[in-house]
Amino acid sequence: MRCGPRPWALVVLMFKSTLEICRIHSNINAVEGEPFYLKYCSYLSEHKNETAPPKWYRNVSHGPMELSSHSSPRITLHDYVLEFWPVELDDSGPYFLQLGHHTHEWKLNVIRRSKDSCYAEKQVTSKTVEVGKTLLVRCEDSYYQKLVNRTSLYKNCKEMNDTSSSLKKNAEFKDQGYYTCMFIIHRNGKPFTVTKTYNITIVEGHSNVVPAILGEDLNHVGVELGKDVELNCSAVLNEKGLIYWDIHNDSGNAHEEKETRHKSSKGKWSVSRILKIENINEKNLNVFYNCTVFSEKGIDTKSFILLKKDHPDIPGHVFTRGMIIAIWLSGAVVCLVIVGVIYRVDLALFYRRFMGRDETLTDGKTYDAFVSYLKECQPENGEEHSFAVETLPRVLEGRFGYKLCIFERDVVPGGAVVDEIHSLIEQSRRLIVVLSKSYMSNKVRYELESGLHEALVERKIKIILIEFTPVNDFTFLPQSLKLLKSHRVLKWQADKSRSYNSRFWKNLLYLMPAKTVNPYREESKVLPLLPHC
Ligand SMILES: *[C@@H]1O[C@H](CO)[C@@H](O)[C@H](O)[C@H]1NC(C)=O
Ligand SMILES: *[C@@H]1O[C@H](CO)[C@@H](O)[C@H](O)[C@H]1NC(C)=O
Ligand SMILES: *[C@@H]1O[C@H](CO)[C@@H](O)[C@H](O)[C@H]1NC(C)=O
Ligand SMILES: *[C@@H]1O[C@H](CO)[C@@H](O)[C@H](O)[C@H]1NC(C)=O
Ligand SMILES: *[C@@H]1O[C@H](CO)[C@@H](O)[C@H](O)[C@H]1NC(C)=O
Repeated sequence: MRCGPRPWALVVLMFKSTLEICRIHSNINAVEGEPFYLKYCSYLSEHKNETAPPKWYRNVSHGPMELSSHSSPRITLHDYVLEFWPVELDDSGPYFLQLGHHTHEWKLNVIRRSKDSCYAEKQVTSKTVEVGKTLLVRCEDSYYQKLVNRTSLYKNCKEMNDTSSSLKKNAEFKDQGYYTCMFIIHRNGKPFTVTKTYNITIVEGHSNVVPAILGEDLNHVGVELGKDVELNCSAVLNEKGLIYWDIHNDSGNAHEEKETRHKSSKGKWSVSRILKIENINEKNLNVFYNCTVFSEKGIDTKSFILLKKDHPDIPGHVFTRGMIIAIWLSGAVVCLVIVGVIYRVDLALFYRRFMGRDETLTDGKTYDAFVSYLKECQPENGEEHSFAVETLPRVLEGRFGYKLCIFERDVVPGGAVVDEIHSLIEQSRRLIVVLSKSYMSNKVRYELESGLHEALVERKIKIILIEFTPVNDFTFLPQSLKLLKSHRVLKWQADKSRSYNSRFWKNLLYLMPAKTVNPYREESKVLPLLPHC
């Protein structure tokens, strides 16, 4: 009988065959506990006409030992065949068959059966199947065929109940695994199991790569007019596959670049090809740019559409413009702040008038300011006198509706001067001190210090200093006065300060408490109403 000359032919199971399989190879594995046989391939013999029957020997330590049916209850011999029912670990070793002068030897290696597995790893037949091709596992045992009672197929030692004893399908990656055919055979009423295991590996096809472009079918690409864009078409192809851009209806500013190819796995190539569109114009927008890959296995196309970007990146000139605007704005803000500082008095006054603010309603004080002009031994018609007694009240009382307490004007001489001054200052919201060169006297000092005490210690009164004549030497002033902020010192400049709108009066109003009074009251209406403080 003829058997396949190639090694894998020894365990052919994928092919239906009625041939009984002889053992051509000299090294043979068997699995512990399974029926096993050795069969001489009789076509190899040049001694076909040999009349003497073949003899079987086993080489043991002291030399060859002829085997007979009596050697072991597990052994049977028929001419060219030696059978084990079943084979055991200690059956391992060299065996030979003698045919006349000719001998043929095998080395039998019995593999220990694994406890955890339905197959012995050393006794698997590996087979590689390309994905998409037919995977065929057919459980047939040509030698034991007639004895087989039942056949079942296991995948990774789990019985496949959806197939009988064979599997035929298009290979998928998930089909990879160990497939074990299990034959239950009966001999003399005793069951035996023979297994055949295939290690099936599913691989990528060599030739059947279906061309595919990566990414979405339709890609929207945001662009800016006048700029360039590169569309990257990348795909998986086989070696002969083509990749190209379809640009025949383009306005001429698009061109394909050379493709780049990298072999990624068996027969598979990663290919990409760029379409460069330069100086994008309106005609490039909202049209299809199609990339196509093509091979004998199929075709794939993906489309790209250019859309005008909603929020383009800030280009250089816009950026510069933005910077200029930003600088200009911050400059403007700085100017505003400076103007605000310079005109804060006007702004504050405007704000007061606008808001109708009045600080004088709730503090329970009688006077808006106590005026101290601080000259006792000077003639009453001196400049300070007329400023304090005439000019100040004319403006503050007559025009702006404040109520002043001017000691020299309003307080009748005599009386308990010191106590009276103190209580008058307490009743006033501001202490206006008119400073001049010869500002000094005990009464004046008292007024001042009393006010300073209120201002600095009790924080009940604010002091306004008016420098009536330039004062170079302030050393005569009490130390505490120097703690007052300099802006509270107003300089009277006889020529410039006369107008109601002059800075002097504005500053003075600013330092005076906010009061809602019709500022344009007639002097005559006010003066008679002046109370005597
Ligand atoms: C073997 O026998 C056949 C006939 O059965 C004969 O034709 C052949 O010559 C013989 N060969 C040898 C080597 O004796
Ligand atoms: C089964 O086949 C795979 C792939 O060829 C191989 O890596 C693995 O070692 C094989 N397993 C056995 C038990 O031979
Ligand atoms: C298989 O074995 C069982 C039990 O020994 C027997 O009843 C049955 O007929 C056998 N089937 C075949 C096909 O030999
Ligand atoms: C195009 O895309 C592919 C895949 O993402 C990448 O490998 C390739 O470098 C890209 N080509 C260019 C020029 O960016
Ligand atoms: C590009 O593909 C789109 C569909 O994706 C199709 O409608 C259009 O006709 C194609 N254009 C060209 C020039 O092939």
